[in-house]
Amino acid sequence: MKRNIKTNIEHYGEDYQRFLGAIAPPIFEASNFAFSSYEELEEHHKGKIDKFVYTRGGNPTIKLLEDKIAMLEKGEECRAFSSGMGAITSSILSLVKSGDHIICLRGIYGPTYNFIYNYLKRFDISSTFVDGRNPMDIKSAIKPNTKLIYLESPNTFLFEVFDLRAIANIAKENGIYTVIDNTWATPYFQNPIDFGIDIVVHSASKYLGGHSDVVAGVVVTNKRLIESINKNLHLLGGIIGPFEAWLILRGLRSLPARMELHQSNAIKIAEFLSEHPRVIKVNYPGLKTNPYYQLAISQMRGFSGLMSFEIEGGERELKRFINSLKIFTIAVSWGGYESLVIPGKHVFKDRVDVIDPSTNLIRISVGLEDADDLITDLDNALKIAFS
Ligand SMILES: Cc1ncc(COP(=O)(O)O)c(C=O)c1O
Repeated sequence: MKRNIKTNIEHYGEDYQRFLGAIAPPIFEASNFAFSSYEELEEHHKGKIDKFVYTRGGNPTIKLLEDKIAMLEKGEECRAFSSGMGAITSSILSLVKSGDHIICLRGIYGPTYNFIYNYLKRFDISSTFVDGRNPMDIKSAIKPNTKLIYLESPNTFLFEVFDLRAIANIAKENGIYTVIDNTWATPYFQNPIDFGIDIVVHSASKYLGGHSDVVAGVVVTNKRLIESINKNLHLLGGIIGPFEAWLILRGLRSLPARMELHQSNAIKIAEFLSEHPRVIKVNYPGLKTNPYYQLAISQMRGFSGLMSFEIEGGERELKRFINSLKIFTIAVSWGGYESLVIPGKHVFKDRVDVIDPSTNLIRISVGLEDADDLITDLDNALKIAFS
């Protein structure tokens, strides 16, 4: 029977009787798993039976999470990592070798940029950063040694949206792999594998966990590509802990309800900000007036709660605005139940190619509080900033 994603999130992969009827899956806080006999050990070594052996290779709590995420992202397999960066770096390393070239969108998450642009140089892996809003930018950057195109759509500061179908087609025509960071949209709102993207990565520390109490990452792809990602997981060791996997499983139960509320709150706030006389620009693809709106609705089913906006004035107004907020808390990260704020220049440090440090760009993560309370908070802080 075909089921809606909301039903699948709750029930897929669950088998209560496997765990003595427990409705919430147990946390298998075990490093290793016993063989019942010498013969079973031998069968396992010959690859004749599959069983849990050592948690770095697999664990029942982690496996339940991986099965659910693979289903949600419409991929064949998932592996969970101890952080989003663990998932991202292991995926990239599984695809490239010395002498290869990577094409990457310019506005990606800072540490991913650092890994691709700086860290990989020591292995003689080069990269070209492109705007990419016109997919032809990507096509023109292809070299004979290009192995991978790395994407984020929307990206998480300027909220530009990229044509995933066109980019996946260009990649396939040229025998190049594609990896996308789908953290902003979550699998509830976007499934890049539907458009031909090869690998989807997430920082599960954001909406998948949803409660700002866990750092984790996931990778979803097909059976062939997961094998080399698995090898990296074994060698580099960035496995998620069983308790963290359980926290993400617990967070996932409310993903649809949370995402709907993040979305409706964020749309109200984006509309309020876009009409405010002190706000120069709002970057949120869920606004019907946003230049990316039409492309966004052609590849996403909805919009999450992270956005940015630019205010008039200078450093004085920026400081006064941020310090006057009472509900929005100054903190990095996003995707939790609580509303957060961070100035752009603190996220994109030294990235003048992405944002001009003199602009008063502010990023907010809209949480699950009451939308009117959040709007009053922003309105009051804007009044104080410009008084
Ligand atoms: C878009 C994006 N991708 C990846 C990451 C990295 O995830 P983690 O912090 O779980 O390593 C982050 C973290 O902020 C992020 O914002």
